[in-house]
Order: sequence, then C-alpha cells, then structure tokens
Amino acid sequence: MRKITVVGAGNVGATCAQRLAERELAQEVVMIDVQEGIPEGKALDQWESAPIEGFDARVVGGTSYDLAEGSDLFVVTAGIARKPGMSRDDLLKTNANIVRSVSREIVRVAPDSIVVVVSNPLDVMTYVAKETTGFPRERVVGMAGVLDTARYRSFIAMELDVSVEDIQALVLGGHGDTMVPLVSYTTVSGIPLTQLLSQDRIDALIDRTRKGGAEIVGFLKTGSAYYAPSSAAVQMVESIARNKRRILPCAAYLDGEYGETDIYLGVPCKLGERGLHEVLEVELTEGERAELAKSAEHVRSTLATLATLDD
Ligand code: NAI
Ligand code: 2OP
Repeated sequence: MRKITVVGAGNVGATCAQRLAERELAQEVVMIDVQEGIPEGKALDQWESAPIEGFDARVVGGTSYDLAEGSDLFVVTAGIARKPGMSRDDLLKTNANIVRSVSREIVRVAPDSIVVVVSNPLDVMTYVAKETTGFPRERVVGMAGVLDTARYRSFIAMELDVSVEDIQALVLGGHGDTMVPLVSYTTVSGIPLTQLLSQDRIDALIDRTRKGGAEIVGFLKTGSAYYAPSSAAVQMVESIARNKRRILPCAAYLDGEYGETDIYLGVPCKLGERGLHEVLEVELTEGERAELAKSAEHVRSTLATLATLDD
C-alpha cells in the first residue's frame, strides 16, 4: 500500500503505527491525533528507529487530516480507553462522537479507503463508522475477534505447555462478556481440545478469555491493553495490504448471515485487497448458536442505548 493512516496516537494507535512501519505494510504510515505534539513526536521517534530496525516506511504525524489525504487504509483507534470499574458501554457516547468526527474526515480526504475500527465499544463503533462514512460493508471492518482469539490461544498454550503456533481457535460474537469462543473449532495441531482438557478446565479458560480485557485493565489501572490489540489490528491490515485472503474473526456488517441483519458482529471473514471479501458461515452447535444470538442481542441493545443518548 502507499499510505496507511492510524487515527489516535495513543497506546494502541502508536503501537500499531510502529508495527505497520516495521513490517513495511505501506510506504508511508501517518498518525493523526487531536493532542498537538503527540503524533508529531511519536512519529518522529519511530522514524528515527528506522535506521536501526531497517525499515523504509516513512512515519509522520500531526493533527491535520491533510497528512492522511489519499490513504488506502485507516486504523481508527481514537477515543478514550477503559479505566478500572468502567464498562465498555460507559465509553459509548464519547467515543461515538469521536468516531463520527473521524469518519467524516476519512470521507473527505480518502473516499475510497478501507477502514479498520478498533475504538470501543467495538461492534457499535464499527457500525457508527459505516453509517457515517456511507462506505459499503466491504470497506468497514472491526477488530476484536483476532484479539479475543489470541488471548484464548495463549491461555490454552500455557495450560497445555505447548507452542501457541499449534493452537487453532475461533472466537466469535461481540467484543465483551458475551463473546463466543467456539470449542467445537478449537484444536491443537488438529486434535480437538476436548480430547486434551476436561470441560472444567476449558470452561475456566473461556471465562478468562471473556474477562481478558478487564484482567489487563486491573493490572495497568490507568489504561487498557495495547500490545496484543495492536498486533491483532496489524494482522488484519496485513491480510488486506498483502491481499493474503486470511480467514480471521472480525466484526463484519451482517446481511442475513447467522440469521442477523443490520448489525456488526464477530464472524469468520476473508480479508484481502478489497477489504472484506466474504463472511464465512460455519456450522455451530445449538448452544453456540444461542450464545451468538445472545451476543447479537447485547450489541443491539447498546446500539439502542446510543440512539437514546443521541436524542
Ligand atoms: P489512548 O487513550 O492511549 O489513546 C487514544 C487516543 O485517541 C488519545 O491519544 C486521544 O488523544 C486520541 N483521540 C481522542 N479523540 C480523538 C479524535 N477526535 N481524533 C483523533 N484522536 C483522538 O487509548 P488506547 O489504549 O490507545 O485505546 C484506544 C481505543 O481502542 C479505546 O477506545 C479502547 O477502548 C479501544 N480498544 C479496543 C480494543 C479492541 O479489541 N477492539 C482493544 C484495545 C483498545
Ligand atoms: C480489550 O479487550 C480494552 O477492549 C479492550 O483489551
């Protein structure tokens, strides 16, 4: 890609920019933030690491969207992060207004771009970005499932004392307590997890995954996770920028898939040069289907809350 812009030069955004530049996923990586000095300083600092790390992607930053003109892709991390005791939904109104203003700027400077949303509450913010940009669903996707799946995989690897590389898994649904780790699709080098761990242990790992974001907030106290979240967003960007067509769990706008319409929800997606190439509908057990419907209900109720807050 020629240019990728990361909006929000905070913890997730700046770490994303660094990873994007180090992997040379674009010739230019731009960071935009409302806090003057932060995007300029972090971008310059990252660019000064280029001679050591050996990358040629130019990193620049600032407060003006002129820098983002003609970007091929945006990663939207602008917003306020969760603090201890704060639910993702508490962030709702503030972040919706931020995502709306960012989306309007994206349409102005890069109407053909692809948008990867990270800001929370994720499924609703991705909906807001699609609604405000008016972009087709192919060009607006949300990051959560890759992170939630990575957490689940990392916990399974620790429990079994095996390589994370050998854990295949899929976590669907909304980003929050109602996420749906699919045990029926969790394998260790092809061996079903259910053959290696008791149901009690699996349940404990699922519970830890559901609370994975809060676990990090509990440690950091003044902010939320950003190393794994930025890795997850960059994996999605890489599949798009290099047209890898990876199958990754992402928040996608559903149009009848999984029995859901007019909602963003975490489902298996094929990501390539056009953004979302396909939503894959996989078979679910009755229990998993019910959990996914419950998760969709939670996302819908947050969307409804936002509509009342907007009145
Ligand atoms: P942070 O507070 O470190 O950074 C947010 C940045 O956004 C700040 O630098 C702030 O100045 C900037 N910002 C605020 N309004 C803006 C605007 N209108 N335009 C441009 N920039 C603006 O927060 P952090 O840790 O980077 O998290 C960012 C967001 O990502 C939060 O909403 C957080 O909850 C979410 N998140 C989502 C995850 C997911 O799985 N989807 C995982 C981790 C974080
Ligand atoms: C997380 O899961 C805060 O949503 C963020 O870490």
